[in-house]
Parts: sequence; structure tokens; C-alpha cells
Amino acid sequence: MTPRGTDWSLALLVALGLVSGLTTWFAGSPGSAWVFDAHALAGIALTLLLVFKLRRVLPRIGTRVRRDRRTVRGLLALGLVLAVLASGVLWSSAGRLGVGGYTVLVWHGALGAVLAIVLLSHARLRARRPRGRDLTDRRQLLTAAALGVGTLAAWQIQRPVQRTLGLPGARRRFTGSYEAGSFTGNEFPATSWVADRPRPLPSGYRLAVGGHVRKPLAITTADLDRGDALTATLDCTGGFFSTQHWRGVSLGRLLDEAGVEPGARHVRVISHTGYRWSFSVRDARTLLLATHVGGEPLAHRHGAPCRLVAPGRRGFQWVKWVERIEVHEDPDPGAAASTLWSSFTDAGRGAA
Ligand code: HEM
Repeated sequence: MTPRGTDWSLALLVALGLVSGLTTWFAGSPGSAWVFDAHALAGIALTLLLVFKLRRVLPRIGTRVRRDRRTVRGLLALGLVLAVLASGVLWSSAGRLGVGGYTVLVWHGALGAVLAIVLLSHARLRARRPRGRDLTDRRQLLTAAALGVGTLAAWQIQRPVQRTLGLPGARRRFTGSYEAGSFTGNEFPATSWVADRPRPLPSGYRLAVGGHVRKPLAITTADLDRGDALTATLDCTGGFFSTQHWRGVSLGRLLDEAGVEPGARHVRVISHTGYRWSFSVRDARTLLLATHVGGEPLAHRHGAPCRLVAPGRRGFQWVKWVERIEVHEDPDPGAAASTLWSSFTDAGRGAA
């Protein structure tokens, strides 16, 4: 493979790894399993391609005289690529491991983001425009085809090999998450997207339903348990999943009671901490506000008095400590940012 062909393919695969990696945060239903497949294929192809790159640059790094200042940045990028690949493969084969209080998967995502930044700055110094022969040369095409076949083969045999070797990776969900505490009531892991840790909500708590509705509501905790139930899997982007029986009130039922006004199309589910997420009215009707899990009242760490249960969506959208439901005409552009700043509000820090 030509040096430029290798370098541009590497950059492309890292970009694909980053974009598909970030997209995994929004892929929770089996229909979106292809996002994880695309991610794994990009990662495996990158690993194979790295062999070509190393064959070219290793001799240069070894010779003192051929090193220059820019080599350092290149080495940093190389070390990061190896760390990202190693952490990805470690996670998908060895199980739910953690380092420094975070799962290997969280480190993997963070390293992936840093890699993209370092590679961009490396490419600005070193990148050379691809030429026609970098794309159409016969040897180039044959090598690319062999790489594609090798990638597909490695991807296909991954799970069977893991099963044969008895590796935990064989038991992971299509999202890469590992099972934890299913059907155990409150005994499953509790995580927060950033660091929300509010105090328990006051006893005078009322869930407010307002915005573009005909009849705003204020509902007590006792009145939220209407016996609506579903079995759904909470799948956290931190790397665990847990299937539970949830009970409470269907959001559709509350929207019907409040009466959505014509023209209103979006529903915001807002936490005591300020954390919020937004859904179309149609999607919101399929969600549940849970007061109970496995027959037990929801524990504070899981979002008591009530949390959202959003089947097929990743855990960070299952808003905890829900305090307000607001019906709006427009989507909520600030929702993603709210998930970051809510941990720094007084309520989010547990100071109010
Ligand atoms: C930027 C470059 C990235 C590269 C090259 C990369 C590469 C990899 C590799 C090689 C694997 C193992 C795949 C397998 O063995 O099936 C993997 C797994 C995974 N990566 Fe990445 N990754 C990157 C960024 C990210 C980011 C930013 C995220 C999320 C924020 C992410 C999320 C995941 C997940 C969820 C898995 C587990 C998938 C599974 O077990 O099937 N990755 N990655």
C-alpha cells in the first residue's frame, strides 16, 4: 500500500470509529445493532492497517538521525491508537473491567475522542494530498480488498472464538454491555450520566404536568402508582444492562388526562436537578414513569419518587428524579447541554 494510501485510510477509519462510537450512545434498540457492527469493523480494519503503517515508520523512529520534532506528535498519535484499540478489544472480550473508578469502556470512549484531536493536529503537519495512483493502483486495490476480507473474517469469528475460549465477551449484549442485577428490584447498579447526586426529594413532592395542555396537573407519589407496568432493559453507556419489571403510570395516560393542545408535538421530561430529555408526543406515549421496580418502591439512587422508563433508548435518557413534564410545540435544543450542567446546579450537587 502507498504511504499516502495508508495514512488517508487510517484517518478515515479513525473518523469512522469516532462517529460510530458516539452514535452508539443513541443506539439502544436491536434495529440499531448495525451501528455497533460498523464500529467493530472500523476498529478491526484499523488494527490490520496499522501493521502497514508500523512497517513503514518503525525503522524511522529507531534511527536517531531520522527523527524530527514532528515525530513526537506522530508517536503520541500512535500510542493513542494502540490504547484505543486495546481498550476496545479488552472491553469486548474480557468483561466489565474498571480502572480508576471508571469502566474500561468509558476510558475507551474518552481516549477515542482525544485520539481524534491529536490525529487532526498530526495530519495538519504531515498530511499530503492523495494522488490518483493512491486510489487506483492495482496493488493498492488488491491490498485494500485483502484487508476488507481479513476484517470481515476476524469480525465473523470473534463471538464463536470467545464462546470456545469461555470469554465473558461472548455474553455481552449487542451494545457491548454486560448483564448486572436483572430482576433483583433495586439491587442493580446506579449510575449518573455526569455526577448528579441530589438530596432525597421532599415529602410534599408533586409531579407537575404543564405547558401546552388544557388542564395542568400536580400529582402525588401515591397517585403516580396506577399499576401500569412493563418489562424493559436499562442499558447504560457506561457498559452494563439490567432487565427489570417496572411499575407506575404510563406517560400517555398522563398526557391524555392533561389534554395535549393542538400543535404541541414535543414532551420534555425534567429532573429535580435540571437534567432533561425531550421526546416527540408519539414516542412519549410509549414511555412509563416508574415508581416501583420488581415490586419495590424505587430507591433514591434509582430516581425516586419516579424515573422515566424508555425502552430501546440508552440509560442516560431514562431521566431520574422526575419533577416536571412539559408539553411544547418545538423540540428542545438545550436538552443535551442540560445533561452536563445539571451536576453543577445546587439541586444537582445535593446542596439544595
Ligand atoms: C476514535 C476511534 C475509536 C476506535 C478506533 C475504536 C475502536 C474499537 C474497537 C477495536 C473495539 C472492539 C470491537 C470488537 O472487538 O468487537 C471497540 C469497541 C467499542 N467501542 Fe470503540 N473505538 C473508537 C472510539 C469510540 C468511542 C468515541 C466510543 C463511544 C463513546 C466507542 C464505543 C465503543 C463501544 C460501545 C464498544 C463495544 C462494542 C462491542 O463490544 O461490541 N468507541 N472500539
